[in-house]
Amino acid sequence: MRYYIITGASRGLGKAMAEALLQDEQNCVLGVSRNSTITHPRYRHQPLDFSDIAGVEHNLHKVFAQLPDAQKIVLVNNAGVIGEIGYIGQSQNEHFEYVFDVNVIVPAMFMNMFLQSYQHRQDCDRMIVNISSGAGQKAKDGWAAYCASKAALDMLSQTAQLEQEQLGTGVKVFSVAPGIIDTDMQEQIREADVEQFRSVQQFRDYKTQGALASPEEAAQKIIRLINEPQIARGVVCSVRDF
Ligand SMILES: NC(=O)c1ccc[n+]([C@@H]2O[C@H](COP(=O)([O-])OP(=O)(O)OC[C@H]3O[C@@H](n4cnc5c(N)ncnc54)[C@H](OP(=O)(O)O)[C@@H]3O)[C@@H](O)[C@H]2O)c1
Repeated sequence: MRYYIITGASRGLGKAMAEALLQDEQNCVLGVSRNSTITHPRYRHQPLDFSDIAGVEHNLHKVFAQLPDAQKIVLVNNAGVIGEIGYIGQSQNEHFEYVFDVNVIVPAMFMNMFLQSYQHRQDCDRMIVNISSGAGQKAKDGWAAYCASKAALDMLSQTAQLEQEQLGTGVKVFSVAPGIIDTDMQEQIREADVEQFRSVQQFRDYKTQGALASPEEAAQKIIRLINEPQIARGVVCSVRDF
């Protein structure tokens, strides 16, 4: 069997990926997020709130089970939040902790547990795909915590890949920007106050001009990366390159 651990599989890109993967009867998906929205014989859900670090710590062992029949094990760190859009100096201090817990701390803990659990499993393919953003490379006003969190995810991925190469484990790690996708996150961005995000109109135009990718289209590109990792230009990559 091929096993996919997908965080944030309850909606948006993560749900589209899970549903596409479940069409192949060799694939099993474990979804991890607060809500469960998929019912399928090869889908299992682990409810977790990534803003509750103690709760995540307590339940991590349930996510990274022994998978003796695995031919392939893939972790997709997809769950993410943009948080309250607003300038540094006008934000709540808790905002930074929340965005970093969900977008960086828990993904790093998942990478750590994945590697501890599976890096010696040379009998199967193992891959970590972190869902990043172009915002990790280019600053956007009002998005400081989000931009910084995705930059951190990119560097975590590069470091993990370097280490796995030095250890010779064969584990592949990517940090991929999935493009602009028509999900709840984009809806939240379009609702931002122009005083808190000067380019908000551009994002409203993306929607009215039909420039957003569907979650299903974006999911297919990430699945292509999983199946054909040689299409990536490097550890940090973008679906625009495929
Ligand atoms: N949409 C875009 O244009 C775009 C562009 C670039 C990058 N991305 C990245 O793509 C990924 C998916 O984004 P999306 O647009 O699909 O977002 P979305 O539709 O808002 O879905 C976010 C997912 O993350 C989960 N999540 C949120 N808070 C959580 C928490 N506290 N604990 C556990 N899970 C939580 C949600 O599940 P629950 O609510 O059930 O917990 C949901 O399944 C994110 O990493 C995002 O940064 C998106």
